[in-house]
Amino acid sequence: MTPDQQPTADSLRSQLEALRLSASERLAAAADADGVEALRSALLGRSGELTVVLRGLGGVDAAERPKIGQLANAVREELEAAISARLEVLRGSELEARLANETIDMTAPGREVRIGHLHPTMSVERDLREFFHAFGFEVFEGPEIETEAMNFEALNMPPDHPARDLWDTLYVAEPGSVDAGEPRPAEDGTILRTHTSPVQIRAMHALRPPIRVITPGRCFRYEAVDASHNFEFFQVEGLVVDHATSLADLKGMLEEFARAFYGEGTRTRFRPGYYPFTEPSAAFDISCLVCGGSGCAACGRSGWMTILGAGMVHPAVLRAGGIDPDEYQGYAFGMGLDRITLLRHAIPDLRLLMGADLRFLSQFPAGR
Ligand code: PHE
Repeated sequence: MTPDQQPTADSLRSQLEALRLSASERLAAAADADGVEALRSALLGRSGELTVVLRGLGGVDAAERPKIGQLANAVREELEAAISARLEVLRGSELEARLANETIDMTAPGREVRIGHLHPTMSVERDLREFFHAFGFEVFEGPEIETEAMNFEALNMPPDHPARDLWDTLYVAEPGSVDAGEPRPAEDGTILRTHTSPVQIRAMHALRPPIRVITPGRCFRYEAVDASHNFEFFQVEGLVVDHATSLADLKGMLEEFARAFYGEGTRTRFRPGYYPFTEPSAAFDISCLVCGGSGCAACGRSGWMTILGAGMVHPAVLRAGGIDPDEYQGYAFGMGLDRITLLRHAIPDLRLLMGADLRFLSQFPAGR
């Protein structure tokens, strides 16, 4: 048909007929579902072949138009049905082809599920939590970034107190001072806590006596790193505040702890010690885990190993915690988790624990 030729009803009829015939051949030739979809839009789409034929409808005798329209609808329905049927066949055979070609090896071994475990230091921490929980201690945690006021002043160490030298402190720099090339400690006294003892003060502020808490956590000191020192380590602090708490209670508690953690046969001793926040203060020793007390390199020939510091909470510390020392007494102790972990597994170098080498860490899957 050329544009100047007016289509007649007959010519439209034969065009529709031709479309129907060619469509079913082309449909049969379509190799896959995508081909059929492309054919659908070529035939029935908005500017598809059927639409193009029907553009001639306007020139046809008015009496003939409805008949041609009916025929066109019939062709459209027929084509749509044929397209759906063809799609169904093709999709079915595509599935069949996949089923035929893909194989599943039912005998292949399952994929291994790798289950991790706690870091040995954290597993010691869990054991400590469990042990002290049985004696009525709850866990109370404090911030790793502290103030000098909490880390020192509240613990009976005023700014010029010489005992501050016992803790080599990492200071947070005053904002801007590093960029200015003159780093100096923050004016608000922000530091990294050097021990978990400031959590004693926080616990006293947050809780009312009777208080029984342990406060596990990470601490920081300005230390050169070697086999037994690091700038980052873990402590567990214990604090008890009650009416008539005594040194005997502290000794009983720690002896219980030493036997539970290091074995029934472990011997213990208290030595006088010094901490500004406890009075009296003590170092708590256990018989050497390596030689049993006869003296070896691990215990410096003394037969003893110091595992924690302890004492009766100083009245000034109780007061800083808002507690009346005439009414209440308390005891406190603090121990390093890293050392306990090294001893438990006979690990010779602290740096092994701090590294992230799974070949090493995976040798210590559970507890003891
Ligand atoms: N805070 C002390 C330290 O880090 C340990 C300690 C805690 C001593 C509680 C006495 C009482 O060395």
